[in-house]
Amino acid sequence: MGDRVLRSGALLAKVARSARSAAYRSVTPLDYVFRVLNQLTHYPPLHLRRQVGGVGAGFNGPGYEFVAYLRLLARLRDGDFLWDIGCGCGMLELALHDLGWKGRLIGTDIQKSCIDWAQKNLSPRFADHNFIHMDIHNAAYWPKGTLSAREWLSRFDKRGFDVVVAKSLFTHVLPDELDVYLMGIADRLRVGGKALLTFFILSEEQARLAATGKNRISFRPYGEDGCCAVRNPVVPAAAVAYEQHYLTERLGRAGFKMDGLSLRHGAWSGRADGLSFQDIIVAEK
Ligand SMILES: C[S@@+](CC[C@H](N)C(=O)[O-])C[C@H]1O[C@@H](n2cnc3c(N)ncnc32)[C@H](O)[C@@H]1O
Repeated sequence: MGDRVLRSGALLAKVARSARSAAYRSVTPLDYVFRVLNQLTHYPPLHLRRQVGGVGAGFNGPGYEFVAYLRLLARLRDGDFLWDIGCGCGMLELALHDLGWKGRLIGTDIQKSCIDWAQKNLSPRFADHNFIHMDIHNAAYWPKGTLSAREWLSRFDKRGFDVVVAKSLFTHVLPDELDVYLMGIADRLRVGGKALLTFFILSEEQARLAATGKNRISFRPYGEDGCCAVRNPVVPAAAVAYEQHYLTERLGRAGFKMDGLSLRHGAWSGRADGLSFQDIIVAEK
């Protein structure tokens, strides 16, 4: 695709994003009434929920679903120290709280509006929950960012996490940041700690299902080496997929135990045995 086409596409995508955002803001009063009637006023307003995909699938269905995966697959216990990287406006934290988890938590995200809301509204209510903005430049999510992911991580001095969760983060991370984040996570986990990470994973089975039209997202190769694919080259970070062997090799290089990796396929690829929508990798340090 030529540079000019990509540039005009990116501009159109930006205009469409602004129009969508204005539309969501215009129904804020209705959303507020809905939250009052359903005793959900402690949840973020619609224009923040929709930034993290929290508009469909029940009010916070995916949040509750991932509390179960954290407990069962990543062995999250009460009292643990948890890092939620790419936490958005705290939908998972609300579900953790509703389901009675008690522990120390740091949530980080590059969208400042989401972090500001979570720090103002959730931090005072949930003991030991803190939300920190990642001031990392990102064309799609935080164009005002002043740091690279590597620079931000070098200033993020928290260590000794028992569990790290990245729910729907790596589905937006391009190869130039993949290793930086994987190493950043591995470095900050205690030995034996677990990371629960979601991806769109390209594999033989996924390609077979794609050929019969079963994939629910179509990816196109991105970059030269075939390790990565995106849904739309105009806004590549909107949905990113990685080749399975490449990903496991990168996890090993980042410092995770190769024999401690487990993969649960998701239903996005059309598999009948998908556990969640995205693929889930649980990696142990
Ligand atoms: C689909 S949302 C998921 C949010 C949250 N984990 C949840 O499930 O409710 C993806 C989140 O990743 C964040 N994000 C996207 N790219 C990122 C990057 N390169 N670095 C850090 N965060 C990023 C976005 O700001 C957004 O909040």
